[in-house]
Amino acid sequence: MYKLKEISDHVFYVGVNDRQKALFENLWPLPKGVSYNSYLILDEKTVLIDTVDVCYSDIFLKKITDALNGRTLDYLVVNHMEPDHAGSIRLLRQQYPNVQIVGNKTTFGMLDGYHSITDGLYEIKEEDVLNIGSRDLTFFMAPMVHWPEVMFTYDTKNKILFSADAFGTFGTLDGGIIDSEMDVDRFWEEMIRYYSNIVGKYGNPVQKALQKLKNLQIETICSTHGPVWREHMGKAVSIYDRLSRYEGEDGVAIVYGSMYGNTEQMAETVAYSLADNGIKNIVMHNVSKSHASYILGDVFKYKGLIVGSPTYSNQLFPEIESILSKIEIREVKNRLFGYFGSFTWSGAAVKRLATFNERMKWETVGDPVELKQALKADKYEQCIALGKAMADRLKDLSN
Ligand code: FEO
Repeated sequence: MYKLKEISDHVFYVGVNDRQKALFENLWPLPKGVSYNSYLILDEKTVLIDTVDVCYSDIFLKKITDALNGRTLDYLVVNHMEPDHAGSIRLLRQQYPNVQIVGNKTTFGMLDGYHSITDGLYEIKEEDVLNIGSRDLTFFMAPMVHWPEVMFTYDTKNKILFSADAFGTFGTLDGGIIDSEMDVDRFWEEMIRYYSNIVGKYGNPVQKALQKLKNLQIETICSTHGPVWREHMGKAVSIYDRLSRYEGEDGVAIVYGSMYGNTEQMAETVAYSLADNGIKNIVMHNVSKSHASYILGDVFKYKGLIVGSPTYSNQLFPEIESILSKIEIREVKNRLFGYFGSFTWSGAAVKRLATFNERMKWETVGDPVELKQALKADKYEQCIALGKAMADRLKDLSN
């Protein structure tokens, strides 16, 4: 019944779209949904690359049955064990009891842990080759390109890289599967958000994986999330390269908390000054309203970060504390950092922002501004000066 998209010679897309989950990993909003991609190669041997979230196993298994058209499934390659991809393995094994599961030693520890599967395993190591008829599959380890067991699979005949989460993005596949079949512009911002939320901590492993791929001829990238990259492969790879080097674009994210609007007025003044001094890309996040997912996306996207916080219970504003922790966990590097804060009777926020930046080792730009109670002319001018200092430093760097 299912007409399945043939991506290349005898390589079919058998993934699914998820437009139901509100939060990916029960954390990150999915306003445009997400796809769980899986691919089936019909050669002398039949090979499935990854499965899908167990919520979609029924439709997924029907697609595979249709595509196999009476043949059995010889191999399941497990590039990644996170349950959004490995969730259907146990049911797949029940339907195809003789399927050999291809993975590395770390994969198999997780396979036992999650699914209690310990037999019918085909263990591979770095650059091992599995011939499946007219083509070889070569395996490359990509540890921590999200989890430690992650590996890439390369189809030597069609020059396809099956890349697990790498080069993935949020957003469903609304009809088209290959990038040339759609307007891909809607994916770029979602790719930054996906990377910063999910993979962001692992910049160095992503860089190592990219180095490893340099010697491969790759014509198509089949990630586990989002479009199959071919026409726009260069842009997808360059986004991952840039983000994993923590290289920001010209622009500033202003992230602030405010209870009664006084700290917000400082943020508005800094933003005004940035724009007045020629900065066009300015994004402002009120931490009580913007979800951390989007704030992280903009922290990864832009070189400049300015944080403002009221003092709350002699600490930072709780939502500021929370977002700083998420930034620190991701070990974001090389940001230009400015900061300001406020208090009513005893100031703590500015001191704590300074301590945060000592840990991050970013360049501090301008003088921090500390406000007692409401904004008056002297502190207004200091906020103007902070915005100007950031604008000047950004212009220095881009010249
Ligand atoms: Fe899409 Fe790390 O799983």
